[in-house]
Amino acid sequence: MNNDILLRAAKGENINRYPVWIMRQAGRILPEYRAVRSSVKGFKELVKNPELCCEVTLQPVDILDVDAAIIFSDILVVPEAMGLDYEMIEQKGPWFEKTIRSEKDFSQIHTDVDVSDRLNYVFEAISLTKKALSDRVPLIGFAGAPWTIFCYMVEGRGSKTFSESRKLLYTNPILAHKLLDRITNITIEYLHLQVKSGADLVQVFDSWAGILSRDQYKEFCIPYLERICNSMNEVPITVFSKGAIGSLPDLAKLHCNTLGLDWNMEIEYVRSLVGENMTLQGNMDPCVLYAEHEFIQKETKKLLDSFQSQRHIVNLGHGIYPDTDFNKVKTFINTVKNYEIKQ
Ligand code: CP3
Repeated sequence: MNNDILLRAAKGENINRYPVWIMRQAGRILPEYRAVRSSVKGFKELVKNPELCCEVTLQPVDILDVDAAIIFSDILVVPEAMGLDYEMIEQKGPWFEKTIRSEKDFSQIHTDVDVSDRLNYVFEAISLTKKALSDRVPLIGFAGAPWTIFCYMVEGRGSKTFSESRKLLYTNPILAHKLLDRITNITIEYLHLQVKSGADLVQVFDSWAGILSRDQYKEFCIPYLERICNSMNEVPITVFSKGAIGSLPDLAKLHCNTLGLDWNMEIEYVRSLVGENMTLQGNMDPCVLYAEHEFIQKETKKLLDSFQSQRHIVNLGHGIYPDTDFNKVKTFINTVKNYEIKQ
């Protein structure tokens, strides 16, 4: 691999500068993405077209010069493979016709999915992209964490509170665990097949981690994340539990290489929990990128200066917002790339 700095940082190996990539770098901000996106009918058509997925995965590598590619896909391909069809509605987000709120709903979905067949389009996109990258940078595969996938399957759409999803944890915890268990089985197989197709590192997105209490996170999320992490022996794995501040001591015990941090998580505190056993990823507020170039440089340097260890991967604290100027993103990336680690 020509540039393996991301993998080296994830494994805790020696690096002379910090690697950088951007969550949601594929899609969203680049005019080149929007051109491809408008050439197809909808988002799902793009996700199911391996050639186009490959093209938009490479765009940020070419244009932004990031240290990793992340395969263009979506976490919602898993509920779809389980028999919950969704639509991606412009300006609104995902919408599922059916939801899982009872034993009867649960009995009507597929829990024994032929993952290699149902999600073959993702694996093809990964193989194509891996070839097209010709070892320039590592390719990141990903999946939603069981809890976040559960949220969409129960709620059926985005929500500020996901109260239907949280309701089920209290009203039918047995059903909740059953659904989380089946999602976990499929996710493990899905991630392994991504690695087999060419993913060099995998990340699990727990975007709705922050709406649960520590006790609930311990009961309904940590055991499933633990199963996923323990099963991943081939490549480094990153867990990003957005908003799970109270659960950081529990997350610090997972067998993952990297913990993703949002901008409310204090690096010094998390470092004190994980020691040198884990790499930390993050965590600049994506809104900093709306400021002037000089301010972005200053904030980025402040972040880098705060690291007390080599075990860092630089990123934002959540996905980049769609109306961010990509020149500002370049400033962020260049500042990281020009910063030398004091040995
Ligand atoms: O990093 C990348 O850019 C790779 C592709 C990627 C997408 N979604 C493409 C996408 C990744 C890694 C995701 C992850 C994802 N999807 C998450 C976890 C990360 C996070 O942001 O918390 C979640 C919760 C989803 C579910 C989802 N997909 C929602 C809520 C939406 C609508 C709003 C939004 O985020 O844009 C999507 C649509 C989606 N997924 C788009 C893209 C580029 C935009 C739709 C379009 O282009 O029409």
